[in-house]
Amino acid sequence: MNAPKPPATTFSCRICGGSSLHPFLDLGKMPIANAFLSCAQLSHPEYTFQLQAGFCDSCHMVQLLEAVDPDILFHDHYAYFSSISRVMDDHFGRLASSIGAEILYDERLPVVEIGANDGILLQKLAAYSPRAIGIEPSANVAAVAREKGLHIVSEFFDTELAASLRAEHCPAQLVIGANVLCHIPDLNGVARALETLLDAEGVFIFEDPYLLEIMTQLAYDQIYDEHVYYFSVTSLCRLFEKHGLRIFRVEPIPVHGGSMRVYGCRSACSRATEPSVTAQLAAESEYGLALLQTYSAFAERVQQSRTSLRELLQRLQVDGARVVGYAASSKGTVILNYCGIGSDMLEYVCDNTPSKHGLFTPGTRIPIVPIDRFAADYPDYAFVLAWNHLNEIASKEQTFREQGGRFITHIPTARIV
Ligand code: SAM
Ligand code: TMP
Ligand code: ZN
Repeated sequence: MNAPKPPATTFSCRICGGSSLHPFLDLGKMPIANAFLSCAQLSHPEYTFQLQAGFCDSCHMVQLLEAVDPDILFHDHYAYFSSISRVMDDHFGRLASSIGAEILYDERLPVVEIGANDGILLQKLAAYSPRAIGIEPSANVAAVAREKGLHIVSEFFDTELAASLRAEHCPAQLVIGANVLCHIPDLNGVARALETLLDAEGVFIFEDPYLLEIMTQLAYDQIYDEHVYYFSVTSLCRLFEKHGLRIFRVEPIPVHGGSMRVYGCRSACSRATEPSVTAQLAAESEYGLALLQTYSAFAERVQQSRTSLRELLQRLQVDGARVVGYAASSKGTVILNYCGIGSDMLEYVCDNTPSKHGLFTPGTRIPIVPIDRFAADYPDYAFVLAWNHLNEIASKEQTFREQGGRFITHIPTARIV
């Protein structure tokens, strides 16, 4: 096997090429958030990179300084299966039906989903479009989507693929991607690919974690290897404008701890730009997203959050309480590594994804066990390592609470709930 490629470090902005990319947050040496370890891997050194974020004060894009090679992140044993969450299933159900009602206009033209994963959204879109195509480079999740009878191309979406899709299937009436745009280092390439693939009146829709939510909620654990970018409406408008594209609507959505859905089209498309876009641009400016000092203040609050979490867990440890982690999430990898929390503080991490069972958390090496183990012998506290799923987890685990168990959450500061 070839040695993994080292991360690509940039000191100039990946979007505008400018040299005003200011580092503002350093979360330290970090393993790959989803690289859960088998027993055999415990004796090998882990791949790590420096998890640092920077703000470009020229085009306003917030981005990682070191980006991990996508081949290291997306492969035939990708750990994230979208269908694991009921909340996301409902969310995508509502999205597909609104698309069917309002966005699609010609059933001869294809609908293309980028990052289709196990087909959670594509399956619902296929009910509205006979020509639904998913692009999914991670072979294992792509195989699950294919088993559902979906048309999947197992490749990375780029300009070349866009040109061949257009040649083979006609221009697209919709290109959609959830939690994938921010993963793709060459965003100028994606914008060019959209320009190639979209029909004249075609629409693109992307939803990704939203920078303003990350800042206001102090959700620093959204910052990890897969998320190369942290979008504002400002930075996305500027990016798309350069490529003859235009955002015509934005909708804040509550999933994954606070995301933004953006709707776009070609600049010359007949759709009018809606008031939601100007309102969001104004909200971003008012919060100070254009100012470097807003980012330094965020970094200070992140350090304070770390201190509060460590103090709480150390206090419980001194009291002799049994504390476990709940949900072996990618965000959890960031929290555990940045805050220095290992198996001395958490007995295990339980999770409902079968493929994670028997593995260990990246960097901190805490055993991952099925939820049954949690239910068989409730601990005193469960630290939820996927705070964005806290409500869903709490509603599933009512018996734990009824028997005196308590959850711990850490966003924005550590507390028992
Ligand atoms: N869309 C799903 C959702 O929202 O639940 C999956 C999101 S998952 C975090 C990101 C997915 O995008 C992965 O399945 C990954 O393999 C895929 N992906 C990453 N880079 C991609 C690219 N350049 N083109 C298409 N898919 C990509
Ligand atoms: P993610 O934040 O990387 O998407 O990971 C979320 C993890 O949370 C995933 O491994 C599944 C797990 N999980 C549970 O164990 N129980 C739940 O009820 C939910 C919603 C997620
Ligand atoms: Zn820039």
